[in-house]
Parts: sequence; structure tokens; C-alpha cells
Amino acid sequence: MIYCDNAATSFPKPPSVARAMADHLENEAVNPGRSSFDLAIQAAARIDALRVELGRLFGNPADDPNRTIFTSGATAALNLTVGGLCAPGDHVVAEATAHNSVLRPLHELRRRDRLDFAIAPCDGSGRVDPQDIARLITPTTRLVVLNHASNVTGTLQDVAAVGRLCREREILLVLDCAQTAGTVDIDMARDLVDVAAFTGHKGLLGPTGTGGLVLGPRAEPEGTVWGGTGVRSEELEQPRALPYRLEAGTLNAVGLVGLAAGVAWLAEQEPGAVAASERELAENFAAGCREIPGVRTTGRTAGDGEEHVAVVSLECGDIPAEKVGVLLDVQWEIAARTGLHCAPLIHTALGTSPGGTVRFSFGPFNTKDQLPRLHQAITAIVRGS
Ligand SMILES: Cc1ncc(COP(=O)(O)O)c(C=O)c1O
Repeated sequence: MIYCDNAATSFPKPPSVARAMADHLENEAVNPGRSSFDLAIQAAARIDALRVELGRLFGNPADDPNRTIFTSGATAALNLTVGGLCAPGDHVVAEATAHNSVLRPLHELRRRDRLDFAIAPCDGSGRVDPQDIARLITPTTRLVVLNHASNVTGTLQDVAAVGRLCREREILLVLDCAQTAGTVDIDMARDLVDVAAFTGHKGLLGPTGTGGLVLGPRAEPEGTVWGGTGVRSEELEQPRALPYRLEAGTLNAVGLVGLAAGVAWLAEQEPGAVAASERELAENFAAGCREIPGVRTTGRTAGDGEEHVAVVSLECGDIPAEKVGVLLDVQWEIAARTGLHCAPLIHTALGTSPGGTVRFSFGPFNTKDQLPRLHQAITAIVRGS
């Protein structure tokens, strides 16, 4: 099988990820931070080291590892951010490339009269004009939530421009880094990002069920789950100190050990090499697709690869995306993802609703010798041969 669905989750992972998880399960899978015996202290220390590493990776100006909070993924992180930072009556500005992990909590909280929100548009290439965000800001706007790169078109947004306009208005900027962490330079200090929500199982190469938040110095969310922390257990009140305020219950230690191995593998590669190789594959793939009559690389044009991560969406004439996906799988053993990719509003902007697109997304273990087969398969499907 040729796996081209790394925007859903990266696969395969570096072998060191499975090895680290197996080693942890066999030798030290005790509850981290809940007991004072050596093994528990050692397990907690590994997780704390990952907090430090991720704070550094995201350029968090708050030099405090306890401001890296672990969750089950970007969805939980974004729910926690929106629910934990907004008080009743607050307003949020999101934008049309947003994933349902942003749109659905916003919708649900509005339904409960907890907040209101507005959506800035994107253009036909998935780009959001920061001025459109600025126009939607009201006196009660508390947060702007920006998707760093679309999981449909791969389009990167101008984070620094949005960061500046948020800072001028004393609004918090939340960046959804699900598609960029691990491959795109993220610098919260430089770009004035207050919260970076990340997933561990895509570009950071960890297992599913990992992710979290990196909180800059201005963001103080309230918790949205409450429970055991292993500290101050005599008090009914959830401890205010981070990470306890936001992390109740036993952490996914085995997943985090795997995530640490993924992050370590990335750090061992030549700086920028993984991102460059993925981007080159995506550009060459898109260029080849543009030569196939009837195929459109939605939201991408020749030469704009630098403005994208390694995600390419296709429309294949009038063949429904879902059918293309089935043929790719059954006849060609190619794994791609079809449909709306949990991001309905960008498809409206692209004119690809309701059927969506066929999405190819490349990871560190895709190779350029896979491209001819991908092009051959798409050509045959479009021709109906
Ligand atoms: C842009 C974007 N945000 C959020 C998510 C949710 O991530 P997770 O699977 O970690 O909950 C995804 C996953 O597809 C995504 O692409």
C-alpha cells in the first residue's frame, strides 16, 4: 500500500516510537507523578522533559514547562481552550478554514448561550485576509482562533499579521497547529501567539491519543474537567497551579513516551529536511496532477508550494471524490482521504461541497518513486480505464 493520508495521522511512525512505547509498557508503566517510588518519579520526569521540549519547539515566551498541557489530541486541546478561556457573553472570531474541533465547540457553546462567534472568510486558495478578521472583532471579542494550515488545501496563514492585530486589541490568539507542528517553524514569541494547540499523532510522529496546549504568559484558561492530580488531595477545589488546573486524571503516559520518541526522531534529522522533502513531494505530485486532463489541484497553483504544507486536494472531473477514493484503495492500493475532512466551511469557499475532494498528504516516509504510480492511478481513474 502507498499511504498518503498523513494529514489524518502520520504512518508509518519512526520505529523508535513503537520501541519506546513497548519498553515503557514492559519496564516502567506505572502511574507518573502519583507515587513517590523511583519508577513513578522516573515516569513523571520523562513527561516533564517532554513539556520542556515542546515549550522550546513552539517558542513559548513563558519559560515554564508547566505551561505545556497534555490532552488526548488537538480536539480536546481546542475544546479546553475555547471553553476554558471564554466567560459568558464573550465573542470569538474564527475563520473558514477551521476544523470541526473548533467549529463544533463554538456552535455548542453558542447554543448554550455561553458565547457568540463570527467566521472570517477565506478565498479560493484557502487564504484568510487578516483584515477580514480585524473587521469582525467587537468590543467583547476575547479570542481569535486561527488554523495555521488547512487540512484540506495545506494553505498556511499569515500568523504574524494576525498576532499583531490581536495584540494591538488585547485579544488572545489561539493557533491550531494540528497540521503544522513538527514541520513548520512555530514561534509563539515572534508571532505573538497566546495558545498553540497541537496534536501529537501527525507531524510530531507520536501515537494517536496525544496532543495538548502550549500556553503563553497571557492565557489562563479555567479547567473544563476536574479530578485527581496527586497533589493537594485533601482539598475539594481543583489546584490552581498548572498543569494541575487543566490536567485531571492519569495521563496517557505510554502515548506521551511515544510522542517524546517522535519528537526526538525529528530533532535528529537535519533541520528543515523532513519538511523540505514532504513539500517537494507535494509540489511534484500536484504538478503531475495538473497535467492530467480533467484534474484540478484545489486551492493550489503552480509555484505556490512554499505557502503550503504537504497536503494536496484534487477534484477529478465529475467523478465523486468518494468513488475516486474507493478505486484508489481497491484497484491501486493507495490510501488517500476523501470527503469534507471535518472542515465544511472551506469546502463551501472552494466550491467542493458536499462531495468534497480527494486529499493526498505526504509524510517523512513517502518517497519520490511513489509518485509515478499515484499519477498513473489518477490518470486511469479519470479516463475510466
Ligand atoms: C486542522 C485540524 N485541527 C484539529 C484536528 C484534530 O486533531 P486531533 O485528531 O488530534 O483531535 C485536526 C485533525 O485532523 C486538524 O486537521
